[in-house]
Amino acid sequence: MSIPIFIITGVSGSGKTTIGQMLATHLACPFADADAFHPPENISKMSVGIALTDADRAGWLLALNQYIRQQKNGLVLACSALKQTYRDQLGQGVDEDSLHWIHLYGEMDLVRRRMVERKVHFMPESLLVSQFNTWEKPDSGLLIPISQTPEEILRQIISTMALPTQWGVVGLGVMGLNLARNFARRGFALSLYNRRLAGTEEKVAEKAVAQYPELQEAQAFESLPDFVQSLARPRKILLMVNAGTAVDQVFEALIPHLTLGDIVMDGGNSHYEDTQRRQAEAARHGLFFLGVGVSGGESGALNGPAIMCGGDAQAYAQVATGLETIAAKDTGGQACAALIGPGGAGHFVKMAHNGIEYAEMQLLAEVYSALRWDLGYTPDEVADTLAHWAEDGLQSYLLEITIAILRHREGSDWLLDKISDKAAHKGTGSWASIAASELGAPLTMMTEALFARFVAALRDNRQAMAAAYVTPHHQVVLDQQDLKQAYQLARWINHHQGFQFIQLASEQHDWQVNLSELARIWTNGCIIRSELMQQAREYLAESLDLLLHPGLRNAVTTFWPSLQRTVSALSYSSRAYPCLMSALAALNGSTTANAAAHLIQAQRDYFGAHLYERVDDPSGKKYHTHWI
Ligand code: 6PG
Repeated sequence: MSIPIFIITGVSGSGKTTIGQMLATHLACPFADADAFHPPENISKMSVGIALTDADRAGWLLALNQYIRQQKNGLVLACSALKQTYRDQLGQGVDEDSLHWIHLYGEMDLVRRRMVERKVHFMPESLLVSQFNTWEKPDSGLLIPISQTPEEILRQIISTMALPTQWGVVGLGVMGLNLARNFARRGFALSLYNRRLAGTEEKVAEKAVAQYPELQEAQAFESLPDFVQSLARPRKILLMVNAGTAVDQVFEALIPHLTLGDIVMDGGNSHYEDTQRRQAEAARHGLFFLGVGVSGGESGALNGPAIMCGGDAQAYAQVATGLETIAAKDTGGQACAALIGPGGAGHFVKMAHNGIEYAEMQLLAEVYSALRWDLGYTPDEVADTLAHWAEDGLQSYLLEITIAILRHREGSDWLLDKISDKAAHKGTGSWASIAASELGAPLTMMTEALFARFVAALRDNRQAMAAAYVTPHHQVVLDQQDLKQAYQLARWINHHQGFQFIQLASEQHDWQVNLSELARIWTNGCIIRSELMQQAREYLAESLDLLLHPGLRNAVTTFWPSLQRTVSALSYSSRAYPCLMSALAALNGSTTANAAAHLIQAQRDYFGAHLYERVDDPSGKKYHTHWI
């Protein structure tokens, strides 16, 4: 088979070097810039604005032609090749089938603007007119207008020339489909695969390509081997299938078709230990497996999610451009995507994110409950109150959607009142609580939030209990400002617990997670993005313990009495407020220098001779008492 040679032509400033380098990187083949082949006398002439003659170019074209013919591993050459005769000379003696011409063209004004922006180049703008006058429109090869972005141009080259694609997506459910559309909108050439299940999932990829204009150049597959073959190596394959056995099944089916160095990414909410097991399996085959936490729901996937990657740094370096391009951007324009750490770090922090999310949602449900049921507000009034809070520094995505939900009507009724209170969950919250127990991390708020969902799910039992008991009735006297400050403080405690949980895991697994960087990634795109997260990012850069940062001292000191009064007032309610109450317990507990746990230690020693340490012996020596 002949070695492919791609020659990208165009006047100076048309972007041929940029496109050429991108194409060479994509094809993993060498790149050369014809400018580097000019003899010094040509460069001197051009530098002072003198156009080259055919005679000046003769030696240069000869040298380039010789260079092309020496290539053994393919080549992408960026060369102005303005005239047909120059192009003929470049291609002399080169197998016609292996020679691919890509011609970039555009308006002189556009090229001029680009040249003015270009910092380091010997070619002055004044030579542009001569370049345009010399340029002869080619009658063969691929002609591409340069008004598009470099990524779009590359995608057009890949799809028109049927070159291997850049990214593969497996599984076109809502998240997979939206991530694929996001990739395509940002100029990536894609291969899409969805399994075929007769009657339920047929031609899913093909239909997506037909339905969404941005996917029209994507290649659709129902055959996994063909899908794999269509991808450039090392292959970058994003799995968007249900967490659990489906990931194992797809990964196992992929392995025989993959080659050394290929990278498989799992973008679902997988358990981090499963990810680590799959990484070990991938390594046995010379492959890479990255656990990619993706947050932001459907709209995040389409418009820019937060992406938390875990695994091999070398593999991440190869997928970083893609993931960081599709990710949300922070206030400084930096991508909300990064390598969080090795192994299962990415999926672990995604699990912790979801745990924080559970408690944030539960806190909002409790605030709503207090305002609506204990203070008698209508949903619209609750929404108005929360909207004021949002304007007053409490802005968050979850608050924003809560306000929208509270105002949503179905006819003249609030839709919310027609929604069953049986809370569901998909598992990440339970995993977080289990992992916290294993680590010894006091993750009380997210665990209370999880258990509140369990209580809510037992609707029949609640109905029976409600019929069996009449709760003692008291008037709840609660100040709205206290509730607001209690909510603010409870959120800080929740975030404190979440980051502490991650820090403990990071130390245990030696993941070296940068908490501030993680908070930065969570400032946009994800479900728990908020103004608080912006502040957390700054505080965590200076203190791994959020609540010990001096910047929070004032707020904690001021809001603490509000949390006490709120919890006290709500203790007279017939409704449950586990997260607010847990926040106060957590704060009281973690600020108690001498806890009642000495009694626990004494009890353990009494019935089980489990030994205890003494406060009057700092050596750590263990003691036992014969209690009877
Ligand atoms: C996100 C969400 C997302 C999903 C949750 C829902 O970050 O985009 O967390 O991952 O909505 O998994 O979880 P539950 O069904 O357990 O509430």
